[in-house]
Amino acid sequence: MKLLLTGAGGQLGKEMIHICAGQSDVALCPLSRHELDISNRDHVIRTVADIKPDVILNASAYTKVDQAETDREAAFQVNALGSQYLAEAARDFDCKLCHISTDYVFDGKSNRPYEEDDRTNPMTVYGHSKALGETYVRQICLKHFIVRTSWLYSAYGSNFVHTMLRLGNNPDIESVRVVKDQTGSPTWTFDLARCLLQLVRTEAYGTYHVSNTGWTTWYEFAKEIFRNAQIDKPVVPVHTSEFPRPAPRPTYSVLSSKKLIERGFQPLRSWNAALTAYFQSIKGE
Ligand SMILES: NC(=O)c1ccc[n+]([C@@H]2O[C@H](COP(=O)([O-])OP(=O)(O)OC[C@H]3O[C@@H](n4cnc5c(N)ncnc54)[C@H](OP(=O)(O)O)[C@@H]3O)[C@@H](O)[C@H]2O)c1
Repeated sequence: MKLLLTGAGGQLGKEMIHICAGQSDVALCPLSRHELDISNRDHVIRTVADIKPDVILNASAYTKVDQAETDREAAFQVNALGSQYLAEAARDFDCKLCHISTDYVFDGKSNRPYEEDDRTNPMTVYGHSKALGETYVRQICLKHFIVRTSWLYSAYGSNFVHTMLRLGNNPDIESVRVVKDQTGSPTWTFDLARCLLQLVRTEAYGTYHVSNTGWTTWYEFAKEIFRNAQIDKPVVPVHTSEFPRPAPRPTYSVLSSKKLIERGFQPLRSWNAALTAYFQSIKGE
């Protein structure tokens, strides 16, 4: 299987490279933003024509959630139009497209896990741009997998786990204040990437939610990070109102694994089991 990976320099992109290295039947063509800017339509078409992949996996995105509020055009250029161009190329060159999306397409007001067919209602520019990207992919390319995920962390790049470890290990900081009123499902990119590889080997096209199972708050997540890292520092629960941000964060963005289960795929392990496994994996490095 020849797999063209966009956004290869991002945290999910790097994880895909790591996972694919152990797969003898996967010929990976990883392209960073510098090598393929997905918002350049001609370049997208030429690249797909040259590589002739069986699968395009779009791990690239404009992910600066707060900055997007004032940089609307750039967010839509990448997350909506870039996705459109990839979908057109996948359609024209008859390959599968696996497109990564987000819990931010929902409004965060639910009181039960979001299912794949629930109505989207994004509350931020980033969420709107990602939702429009999904729409283009769905309309243009029949052979699509749209995979929504949430609260990603990895050994690569900046993410919540790295931030907590940095604060936790800073001797000048006595305690760490973390919001307790946002609930979601932390997801290790390693588990997500393995599931993506499984999906793209099939023809079970459609929209999926892929997150580590169970849910927690950022506050409880931080405490679990410190426990795993054996950091003995107080974590202080605070309200979202104490951390005002340009883009409002969803209060509740748990994603149900319903579609994975219905289609016979294994849902991901629980978020706390994944976190423990993550810490074991970095210890061994
Ligand atoms: N991080 C999360 O918590 C989270 C949660 C839910 C869903 N997601 C989704 O998961 C996917 C992967 O996210 P991630 O955490 O790996 O993000 P990331 O680390 O920010 O990686 C995104 C990559 O896309 C690249 N990129 C930006 N604009 C591009 C363009 N025009 N053409 C090609 N590449 C471009 C970025 O390059 P530069 O760094 O050079 O800009 C970066 O390497 C995204 O679709 C995101 O929306 C993420």
